Amino acid sequence: MAMEQLTMPLVRVTEAAARAASDWVGRGDKKQGDQSAVEAMRQSMGSVPMSGEVVIGEGEKDEAPMLYNGEQVGSGDGPSVDIAVDPVEGTNFLAKGMPGAIAVLAAAPEGEMFRPGPGFYMDKLVVPPAARGELDPEAPLASKLGDLASALDKHLEDLRIFVLDKPRHQDMIQQIQEAGARVRLAPDGDVSGGVMAALGDSVDALMGIGGTPEGVITACAAKAVGGDMFGAMAPQKDGEDERIREFGLQPGQVLTMDDLIKGDNVLFVATGLTNSDVLEGVRDYDDLVSTDTMVITGAHGTVQRIQTDRPLMP
Ligand code: FBP
Repeated sequence: MAMEQLTMPLVRVTEAAARAASDWVGRGDKKQGDQSAVEAMRQSMGSVPMSGEVVIGEGEKDEAPMLYNGEQVGSGDGPSVDIAVDPVEGTNFLAKGMPGAIAVLAAAPEGEMFRPGPGFYMDKLVVPPAARGELDPEAPLASKLGDLASALDKHLEDLRIFVLDKPRHQDMIQQIQEAGARVRLAPDGDVSGGVMAALGDSVDALMGIGGTPEGVITACAAKAVGGDMFGAMAPQKDGEDERIREFGLQPGQVLTMDDLIKGDNVLFVATGLTNSDVLEGVRDYDDLVSTDTMVITGAHGTVQRIQTDRPLMP
C-alpha cells in the first residue's frame, strides 16, 4: 500500500522531466536536454512523500551533482524506497527530434533493487507473462526461440524479437532471422523495447546487450506485469570487466528476475518525451502542455495511462 501512495507524486516527477527536456527536442544537444530533465526530476522529487535513495542514477557523486548513486531524495516522510532514474532514456532521439525518447523511473521497497556498481552493460532477455519460467537463459538461441514460440503458442515465423541495432548484435540478428523469426531493430531505447516485450505488445521478446541501469528499470516493469527477465553483466568498455569483478559481480553470471528486483511491490513510471510506440510525446498547445504517462504497479500488476493537461503559467 505504501508504494501505491507514491504513484501520483512520482508521475509528477517524470512529467516534469519530460516537460523540461522537451524544450531541447531536435536541438542537437543531448547533454543540455538531459541536464534539464535531471534538474526538473531532482527538484520535483523533493516533494514526494518518501525516504528515497537513488540506487540507479546519473553515476557516482564525483561525476554527477544530482541524482547520483546514493543520493537521498524525497521529503523524508513516508516509505523507505530504492529509486532508479533515467531522466532521458534515448538522448540521441531527443537531440535528433526522433521518436522514442522517454523520461522514466522505478521505485521499490528499500534494499530490493539490484546494485550494478560500475557495471555499465547487461545482456538481457525479457519475455511476456505466458513465457515466464519457460526459457533457459543459457540455452542456445535457436532453442530459446523454439521454447518461446511454444510458450506463446505461436509459430516460430511469427515471433518478433526486439534487438538494439548495434554491431555487437549482428550475429544474433542473423541467427534470429535464420531461425525463421523476425527482428524489430531500434538504434536506441531498450527500456521501451523491454516494456513492449514484457507486455507482449508488438514484440514477443527483447534480447541483447544494453545499459545496466536500463536493465534494472526494465526489470521493475517486467516484474510488475508478471513477465520474466534474465540479465548478465556483459562488459563492453575498457576496464569494465575488472571493475565489475572488484565490485563482486561475475560477468556472464545469470541474474534472474528476483535477483534484479526482489519483491513484487514495484512501481514503474514513464512519460513520453517524443512520440513512440509506447507513449505520446510532450505536446504544446497555446495555453497548456500535455503529457502521456504509463504507470505499472506491481502490487496489482495494473497498467495505467495518465494524460495530464497542465496550464502554462503566464
Ligand atoms: P541514452 O539515453 O543514455 O543515450 O541510452 C540509450 C540506450 O540506447 C539505452 O536504451 C541502451 O540501454 C543503451 O543506450 C545502450 O548503450 P550503447 O548505445 O552504448 O550500446
